[in-house]
Amino acid sequence: MNKAQAYYHASLNAPIRPALNKVVNANQAVEKVAIDCGCGVGNESAFLLEQGYHVHGFDTSAIAADICKARFAGQSHYQFTQCGFEAFNYPQSSLIMANASLYFCEKAKFAQVWQAWQQSLQSGGVLLVDFLEVEDEWLQTSPDMLAFTEDELRKLLQTFEILTLKEIKGIYPLRAGGEKFWHSFIVVARK
Ligand SMILES: C[S@@+](CC[C@H](N)C(=O)[O-])C[C@H]1O[C@@H](n2cnc3c(N)ncnc32)[C@H](O)[C@@H]1O
Repeated sequence: MNKAQAYYHASLNAPIRPALNKVVNANQAVEKVAIDCGCGVGNESAFLLEQGYHVHGFDTSAIAADICKARFAGQSHYQFTQCGFEAFNYPQSSLIMANASLYFCEKAKFAQVWQAWQQSLQSGGVLLVDFLEVEDEWLQTSPDMLAFTEDELRKLLQTFEILTLKEIKGIYPLRAGGEKFWHSFIVVARK
């Protein structure tokens, strides 16, 4: 098993994000349509399907594509697209999630992605997104990764109601093994 396969294998047993229950309760939009950006093996997608959502998942990884297509085969309320943030055609939605994935979005394309999200998300709908902070360890080796200061993040979200902005800062494990210095934010924000 290579490193990527090991990561996705470990992910299948990972619990869903604790913030997801809060997000589902906070969603005031009428339609229950979620987009799971960089969805990996689709654990959060599975939870949202159980909650009655129509879920659009996308990921660039062929391994994630194979797993999600098999896992959700025959589920009429689920669509998977193998592509990235930059190419996905965002439908109207009431929940946009990017769990541990937005930082892989091409930096130069982020403004375009953010605009697409704003057009996609209905009023009362919710974002659940992990944002890297500029001092995260990954930025030392990959300075072009998408990252924000807290001030930049608050400015980005100024038209949203911020329900959670939780800072993660410290040495924590990686799902693929090992550990690193994490500095990131978990954001729940309502349009
Ligand atoms: C750390 S995993 C998180 C997966 C899942 N969201 C979770 O929380 O378990 C990051 C995922 O982002 C995907 N990814 C990387 N670059 C991407 C891009 N440009 N657009 C969409 N997904 C991307 C990877 O293939 C991977 O599945």
